[in-house]
Amino acid sequence: MALFVGLLYLSAQALYYLVLLFLLAFLGYCVYIKHIHMKYDHIPGPPRDNFLLGHSQTFWKVMKNDGNLHDTFLKWAERYGSVYRINVLHSVCLCIYSPEATKELLMSPKYLKDKFVYKRLFNLFGQRLLGNGLITARDHEQWYKQRRIMDPAFSSLYLKGLTGTFNKLAEKLMDKFTDAADNKTEITMLSLFNTVTLDVIAKVAFGVDLNLQKNRSPFQKAIDLCMKGMIFYLRDLLFEFNPKNRPFIKEVRKACCLLRQTGAQWINERKTAMQNGEDVPKDILTQIIKSAGEEETMTEEDEEFMLDNFVTFFIAGQETTANQLAFCVMALANNPDILEKVRKEVDEVIGMKHDISYDNLGELNYLTQVLKETLRLYPTAPGTSRDIQDDMVIDGIHIPGGVSCMLSTYVTGRMDKFFKDPWKFDPDRFHPDAPKPYYCYYPFALGPRSCLGQNFAQMEAKIVMAKLIQRFDFTLVPGQTLDIMDTGTLRPKSGVVCHIRHRDYQQK
Ligand code: HEM
Repeated sequence: MALFVGLLYLSAQALYYLVLLFLLAFLGYCVYIKHIHMKYDHIPGPPRDNFLLGHSQTFWKVMKNDGNLHDTFLKWAERYGSVYRINVLHSVCLCIYSPEATKELLMSPKYLKDKFVYKRLFNLFGQRLLGNGLITARDHEQWYKQRRIMDPAFSSLYLKGLTGTFNKLAEKLMDKFTDAADNKTEITMLSLFNTVTLDVIAKVAFGVDLNLQKNRSPFQKAIDLCMKGMIFYLRDLLFEFNPKNRPFIKEVRKACCLLRQTGAQWINERKTAMQNGEDVPKDILTQIIKSAGEEETMTEEDEEFMLDNFVTFFIAGQETTANQLAFCVMALANNPDILEKVRKEVDEVIGMKHDISYDNLGELNYLTQVLKETLRLYPTAPGTSRDIQDDMVIDGIHIPGGVSCMLSTYVTGRMDKFFKDPWKFDPDRFHPDAPKPYYCYYPFALGPRSCLGQNFAQMEAKIVMAKLIQRFDFTLVPGQTLDIMDTGTLRPKSGVVCHIRHRDYQQK
């Protein structure tokens, strides 16, 4: 009995000290949060929902209601100015919309990509996804080495040689449109654009014919799941600990595995072809294999690194372009006068011919303006983030170093301080004679870490849009929302459901 009482006493004492320790640690943490608040609270910002969680409740509320967080950032930018602060626990992130600061932060290699976001994307719920690939590599040397090796697969000369492939794959999409016009069926533009951009990246980057206009494939769903997973993983730190989310997390992990296993298979097939002395294209896959080093000395980490870049290109090269195309159709359907003007240009430049040449693309100036304006209002990759290591001054406000910052072309693209009448879809803002936007429009980011696939994407988008406009009339099925869905990248929530008809002059 005495032994039992003694043990009970000891346990109670241990519990007492444990609780005390926990309280002290919590108190220490609160003091640390207070210290961080004091360091950054001279920077304006919306009131925190809560001392501990900062602004995270606002974010949860928007996400729970399927809202677009970027609209909240825009509202705050109008209220709190070109630099404001947001807090979550002990972290501070600055939202920066000053053109001068944007120039400094994006153009200089000194400001590395934000540790929290890009390190976290290495894995997704414990499964390696983007790893140290081109988008997520933070270390300048490691990134630069990869970028130099990849550059040839994006040179103008190499892209020019791809015009035929882009045309061929876009024609398959036109066949789908023809079926829909013949059968008078409604079509969801976003899904069809997703199939063509996936077909293009698989063929052009990896030399694989998926032919998704005819075949089904699990890749679209896998990319979708990874994107959705990323957004929860980044924005809700507690998401993975909620048992309710386990089935979704399992699906996301499976999707990551599928993409990496596909990468391993396609890379091995290409390596075998190279070893057999076959004539392989100098495409992205070949460059990925080159970037990993010599075969004889290749380590397991080198193999994983190749997969990082495979997944990076598979994801980056597909979704953003499909979303841009769908937004472009939505914008044109809502602006018939602009559609008419761009159609006139398409008729003049390509007439009835089906093969659009590389030179033709350079002549489609108004279509280029339309695509640029689409990305002003609907930047499918809305922003980027950087770490600020040293103290700096932005618009007269002292910024103590050791903080991360977000830069958003979505926000600046919708501020009337930078674009007059910002809600108006007006491609003439990008007329060659109009003043160039000064560090407030950057849908492909800017500086050394800007999009490697920009020309690739815009070539593809122009060919698809020119063919669509050349041959079909389209109208939006009434009653659908024009809202934006925020899944890390931005996409039209409705999917852009259209009625499509052959143009009058076309023979059926
Ligand atoms: C409309 C289409 C596209 C948009 C709006 C877009 C936008 C962007 C943006 C904003 C970044 C910077 C990301 C960041 O800072 O985290 C980026 C990076 C990148 N994009 Fe794109 N992108 C598009 C299409 C493509 C395509 C088609 C490819 C490949 C075929 C591609 C490959 C890349 C790569 C490799 C990077 C990383 C570049 C580096 O850090 O060196 N993108 N893109």
